[in-house]
Amino acid sequence: MRLTVLSLVIYTTIFGVLIDGYNCKIVQFIFGDSLSDVGNNNYLSKSLARASLPWYGIDFGNGMPNGRFSNGRTVADIIGDNMGLPRPPAFLDPSLTEDVILENGVNYASGGGGILNETGSYFVQRFCLYKQIELFQGTQDLIRAKIGNTEADKFFQEARYVVALGSNDFINNYLMPVYSDSWIYSDDSFVQYLMQTLREQLTLLHSLGARQLMVFGLGPMGCIPLQRVLSSSGGCQEKTNKLAQMFNTETIKVVSELSSTLPNATFKFGDAYDVVNNVIANPNNYGFSNSDSPCCSFGKIRPALTCIPASTLCKDRSKYVFWDEYHPSDSANQLIADEMIKKLGFKPINQTDNAASPSPVPAVAPSSDGN
Ligand SMILES: *[C@@H]1O[C@H](CO)[C@@H](O)[C@H](O)[C@H]1NC(C)=O
Ligand SMILES: *[C@@H]1O[C@H](CO)[C@@H](O)[C@H](O)[C@H]1NC(C)=O
Ligand SMILES: *[C@@H]1O[C@H](CO)[C@@H](O)[C@H](O)[C@H]1NC(C)=O
Repeated sequence: MRLTVLSLVIYTTIFGVLIDGYNCKIVQFIFGDSLSDVGNNNYLSKSLARASLPWYGIDFGNGMPNGRFSNGRTVADIIGDNMGLPRPPAFLDPSLTEDVILENGVNYASGGGGILNETGSYFVQRFCLYKQIELFQGTQDLIRAKIGNTEADKFFQEARYVVALGSNDFINNYLMPVYSDSWIYSDDSFVQYLMQTLREQLTLLHSLGARQLMVFGLGPMGCIPLQRVLSSSGGCQEKTNKLAQMFNTETIKVVSELSSTLPNATFKFGDAYDVVNNVIANPNNYGFSNSDSPCCSFGKIRPALTCIPASTLCKDRSKYVFWDEYHPSDSANQLIADEMIKKLGFKPINQTDNAASPSPVPAVAPSSDGN
């Protein structure tokens, strides 16, 4: 009898301690386009932007297509790994449950998606950023129902957020005459329209609890193989590159302004424009042998649009900057991620002191490439 009472007391104590010390993990919520998609579009059966066939994923896990538009990892994969954070599964992954979300976060990124609702409409199905935020609100409702509002507030405020969109707003909207945005706007007014929309979206994410958020800038997207094929000389499209630079310059301003005005916000901006531009001009200096054509291509037919099983692959995938007409290879993503880590200056999660740490020394990522 005494024993039972005792164990009851012990149980209650342990249970009490468990409830009291309930400690949610730090996870990531990722919003993005095909550069960050880890499988959402593969579940959108009508989407024309899908990485569902070989040879996508050939250098990742078991080598089968996994939804990433690359041969290997995305930039967000590499940055998250470096921070010591779990890789969040795709929102549409059927195995996603509340427990999985609490352990790993969620990735809402969708190939073809943009900051603007109208971007990428010819892919038929994709999640634009507003839609991704709407899905995140649904996720929040599930988690609140599971762990209660107080714990959920804490969970969502401690999480890390990535927002990485913008190239489709140019490549698959403004620069395409089939989209009305291309005749309505000028370069300046279009970038302003994007900034106004992005500002609203980042503010909305803050109101939903996002405090630590990274925005990724654009690379020299006028140099992707598809843009080169469309230029008469085969060179980079300078107009497109100029738009990417305008986007980056304006996004830095929006992000730093929000970071200083929204309560408790640490919003950061990182891009790898200059490094990628240098790699494209001098691939050999960075250990690459090709920076103007896709590793996965279909004979001499260009643009090949997507990588398919009948495509042929370059001999050494680690030496090509581009994997397909649009997307960087795993090794280019490593280089991009290393550069962003330097610029974003964050500490790995396991070295973060949650109590106020007065000296924010940026952790510089170990360079994976010493020559
Ligand atoms: C933190 O995590 C990183 C990446 O997972 C790991 O390499 C590093 O050794 C860890 N550091 C500590 C202090 O645990
Ligand atoms: C954009 O789409 C979202 C839903 O995904 C909708 O709530 C919003 O009103 C749309 N905005 C515009 C300007 O069309
Ligand atoms: C900001 O952080 C302080 C201290 O953690 C907290 O008391 C306050 O509620 C936070 N405000 C917002 C809007 O998150």
